[in-house]
Amino acid sequence: MIAIGCDHAGCEMKKAIIDAMSEKGFEFKDVGCNGEKCDYPNIAEALCNEITSGSCEKGILVCGTGIGMSIAANKIKGIRAALCSDSFSTKYTRLHNDANVMCLGARTLGPGLAEELAEIFLTTEFEGGRHQVRVDLISKLENNN
Ligand code: RB5
Repeated sequence: MIAIGCDHAGCEMKKAIIDAMSEKGFEFKDVGCNGEKCDYPNIAEALCNEITSGSCEKGILVCGTGIGMSIAANKIKGIRAALCSDSFSTKYTRLHNDANVMCLGARTLGPGLAEELAEIFLTTEFEGGRHQVRVDLISKLENNN
């Protein structure tokens, strides 16, 4: 199950991603919003709770730029959120960082690119090995600060 959420700036893009990725077999838990004005940190928190509780394996957050969502999500222990705007970074944030949340900007990306990036994010596995050591060091930073 994939968690997905947006603020009022990201609703159209969120719907486009749900439609495109559902056709490819992914199931989504939508944590809102539904078009009403809202504050992106609250949506980021709701989505990250789905991941840290184990209900969802990964998450996708959409706001105007993706930046607010990524800053908010990365405040939550256990979350590695990546702001994604190109395919190379999206692939490598899965391979090397084991990012569990992707953040997209509805005002900076077209829907075609956003859907392509979502597919890369959802289908690329973490490489582990030496990268696990580094991800463990990120967890250590979280615990020590
Ligand atoms: C909302 O207008 C906008 O600030 C928000 O979607 C996002 O871009 C914040 O980073």
